[in-house]
Amino acid sequence: MVTEEEKAAFFTLLKKFSDAIGVSGHEFEIRKLIMEEVNDLADKVWTDRMGNIIALKKGVDENAPKVMFAAHIDEIGLIVSHIDNRGFLRFTGIGGWNERILPGQRVIVMTSKGKIRGVIGMKPPHIMTPEEKKQVLEMSKLFIDIGVSSKEEAEKLGVKVGSVIVFDREVARLGGSDKVTGKAFDDRVGVASLIYMLKLLNKVEHEANVYAVFTVQEEIGLKGARVSAFSINPDVGIAVDVTIANDIAGVDEKDWITQLGKGPAIKIMDRGNISHPKVRELLIRVAEKENIPYQLEVLTGGATDAAAIQLAREGVPVGTVSIPTRYIHSPIEVLDLNDAVNSSKLLAAFAKEITREWVKELNAW
Ligand code: CO
Ligand code: ZN
Repeated sequence: MVTEEEKAAFFTLLKKFSDAIGVSGHEFEIRKLIMEEVNDLADKVWTDRMGNIIALKKGVDENAPKVMFAAHIDEIGLIVSHIDNRGFLRFTGIGGWNERILPGQRVIVMTSKGKIRGVIGMKPPHIMTPEEKKQVLEMSKLFIDIGVSSKEEAEKLGVKVGSVIVFDREVARLGGSDKVTGKAFDDRVGVASLIYMLKLLNKVEHEANVYAVFTVQEEIGLKGARVSAFSINPDVGIAVDVTIANDIAGVDEKDWITQLGKGPAIKIMDRGNISHPKVRELLIRVAEKENIPYQLEVLTGGATDAAAIQLAREGVPVGTVSIPTRYIHSPIEVLDLNDAVNSSKLLAAFAKEITREWVKELNAW
């Protein structure tokens, strides 16, 4: 059972992180927020050359097993590629975009002088041809209107080629009170989940050294996880990320993948990797022991940081805990707070089970 207090505490974290900006390769704002939050929760916190944040919660001694949890801090975004003479911005995408959802959006442009608002404009339907009404506009045909009338005016506001852009969207609760919507639950819900896990771990004993890693540049190729896993050299790695909940109107039950409100998903596989059988078995055992609802996930597309962690050095057994989310990579992602809180409980309970003995068993075939 997840209490109202737990959901409220998680919502506060999720809102703070999802409203923040951190397009891949430009994770400045979100990194600062996470650093502030994590400093009091771990024994040691540092950043590496790429900008990953690594928070260590020490176990019984230095030689205790190492468990690495990874949640990515970056989000997909847009980036200015050209400013025309009238001050309209052309852009391209960072990460996996669906161009269909872009026209009609309000956006925030991060400039060298701060944040400014813009809109992705388009021709009104009144003057569209019947063909135009049916078309999906390619990103190269779209533009951002920031309300200026010249290139000079845009530049005066600090807009440059290379300025990054995100949706102007804040986290809000939906009518169904435990369902929330926002722009970057992928993967700020994972970030919130790890922070909440650290809070839970502060109340219990654990043998293992727990590394909570907040990774950069996942959306453009799992880059932060790759280098942080190399430096940590963990005995076991767990990625914490959203997964697809396709349990929406008009979709056959066999194509749902996961459902909102049925618990965090323990991943069997996705396109990036197959979870180590003993890792996913332990996740299942722990969920059952602690009465945490869970679902099993087989995903035919997408990958997580686990795929990069798995191939660090001579190899790392990995698994993934996913938070079911509808409409991923859109400004209106939707998830259930119960699943989110339960993901933290599952991770904390899993961390407690990582012992020297279990690692020995893990590596025996
Ligand atoms: Co993503
Ligand atoms: Zn993600």
